[in-house]
Amino acid sequence: MKSPDGETRPRLPKAGTIQVVPSILSADFARLADELATVKAAGLEVVHLDVMDGHFVPNITIGPPVIARLRACTDLVFDTHLMITSPERYIDAFVDAGADHITFHIETCLRPLELIDRLHKMGVSAGLCLNPDTPVDQIEPFAAASDMVLVMTVQPGFGGQAFMPDAARKVITVRQLVGPQVRVEVDGGIDPQTTPIVVGYGADTLVAGNAIFGQADRIAAIMAIQAAASTCGRG
Ligand code: DX5
Ligand code: ZN
Repeated sequence: MKSPDGETRPRLPKAGTIQVVPSILSADFARLADELATVKAAGLEVVHLDVMDGHFVPNITIGPPVIARLRACTDLVFDTHLMITSPERYIDAFVDAGADHITFHIETCLRPLELIDRLHKMGVSAGLCLNPDTPVDQIEPFAAASDMVLVMTVQPGFGGQAFMPDAARKVITVRQLVGPQVRVEVDGGIDPQTTPIVVGYGADTLVAGNAIFGQADRIAAIMAIQAAASTCGRG
């Protein structure tokens, strides 16, 4: 995808291909460049960056300066998950820092179509996220304009929480809504046990934090999730 200044950015792989997307929230923050190199060595294309503001969610993580430093270390696609109030005030800073894809929460945004359009004009792809308690109809008018819908399968804010089966079932409705051209991502409690459930529902983008970076052998952990996805015939 080309931004208006002609710079070519890495982009999300085509929808429909299963992607395991490690969330660095559970990585060793003192060794982030090494962790990204391991993700790349595993053959993955995308990494998930969780941005929290201590306001929309009760936790604080990283912002544009850290993303800019990571950008210099890797060509992995940066799938940037903004768990922040007023995302429209900050997207320029995240794009300048090197985000390739930005997902914002529908709960935080009054004019989602405007934000999606701004992101596209900046040369990055756009995602809409639903909290576990937010019904799918909230995104109905905007989903087709987006590149990804993210269904939270935990309450956002922390890694290592238990998968919420009822929230995950919304993936079925989201997939029916967006068809095959838009990525459907799940985030929270994804591991080799829960992967076949969400892939069976139609998810093609599997964020995993603790299930990868909580394991000594990250590459084996990634392969275990890929193997679990392929048991559904879509890996
Ligand atoms: C939670 C974040 C997730 C988190 C998932 O608010 O959005 O990306 O890292 O962590 P796990 O996979 O450990 O549930
Ligand atoms: Zn996330």
